[in-house]
Amino acid sequence: MKRFVVIVSIVIFVSGCGETVRQPIKFNHKKHVDMGIGCDTCHIYVKEQPFAGLPKIEICLGCHEAPITKSAEEEKIRDFKKRDIELRWTKLTNLPDYVYFSHRRHVGIAKLDCKGCHGDIAEMPVPPERALVSLKMGDCIDCHRKKKAKTDCIYCHR
Ligand code: HEC
Ligand code: HEC
Ligand code: HEC
Ligand code: HEC
Ligand code: HEC
Repeated sequence: MKRFVVIVSIVIFVSGCGETVRQPIKFNHKKHVDMGIGCDTCHIYVKEQPFAGLPKIEICLGCHEAPITKSAEEEKIRDFKKRDIELRWTKLTNLPDYVYFSHRRHVGIAKLDCKGCHGDIAEMPVPPERALVSLKMGDCIDCHRKKKAKTDCIYCHR
């Protein structure tokens, strides 16, 4: 009986972990964005490539090589570096493989605001556990109609 209880608790624990994302550091978007640090300081490919990119530890170390605050979360950056561990952020917004999407097109060329597709991530003091906005085909097409961009199936499904 005791063993049964232990196994059941492990199963509940493990399946519970699958549902919410925990990032390696409690990163504070609001604090960094309010200081005037541009989104592309950390999401370095957002204007030039299909993907935006999540920051490698070297980008954080550019400012956090030496302590700026007394935060234990900040100390973790240098601790990961010391142990040669890369920051493995989990990507939250995911389209299916059969959809083509490009940040370069929407940010670099069309100059659209991040907020329209990602919600108010700039106001988040801690990492969200799931994407603030889940873009469905209807959302893509609504905006394409409004902005007179292409709506033929082939542009998004190649
Ligand atoms: C037109 C909608 C749209 C706009 C505008 C947009 N994004 Fe995205 N973003 C997406 C979609 C869709 C994905 C998921 C792409 C995928 O899974 O293929 C994504 C993914 C991401 C990711 C996850 C990592 C990665 O490399 O893809 C980051 C970070 C990101 N966007 C940042 C930004 C930033 C910063 C801006 C503004 C400078 C921005 N996005 C503007 C739609 C948008
Ligand atoms: C352009 C400089 C710059 C970059 C790049 C940068 N930070 Fe910071 N960060 C700061 C400054 C300045 C502070 C101190 C803010 C304050 O006065 O509280 C800070 C504070 C912090 C703190 C402690 C305060 C808090 O509330 O969380 C953490 C943790 C942190 N940063 C993590 C990161 C991580 C992780 C990265 C890389 C993804 C990063 N930072 C990249 C400048 C930067
Ligand atoms: C100092 C570094 C830094 C800056 C500046 C920064 N971000 Fe981020 N961003 C991160 C990190 C680290 C993560 C992963 C952890 C998290 O979600 O907080 C992330 C995650 C994201 C995601 C979630 C990606 C996904 O998979 O859905 C979006 C969207 C995003 N950022 C948009 C922005 C926008 C928009 C700005 C500017 C207003 C911005 N970021 C500025 C470091 C940064
Ligand atoms: C907020 C408005 C908006 C949203 C939301 C949006 N788009 Fe777009 N998209 C545009 C605009 C504007 C263009 C035309 C950019 C240009 O000037 O080339 C475009 C262009 C494109 C193109 C290039 C078409 C071509 O001419 O080759 C593709 C592919 C695309 N979008 C896919 C998507 C997908 C997939 C989504 C949803 C996940 C999406 N878009 C969401 C505004 C949007
Ligand atoms: C502007 C981009 C865009 C255009 C144009 C577009 N789609 Fe999609 N489509 C998406 C995205 C993003 C998804 C995945 C998200 C979702 O399921 O809503 C998707 C998903 C789908 C799916 C899978 C839906 C499901 O429930 O599994 C089908 C089927 C589909 N599209 C067919 C089409 C057809 C047919 C056309 C042309 C009439 C078309 N799409 C035009 C972006 C687009």
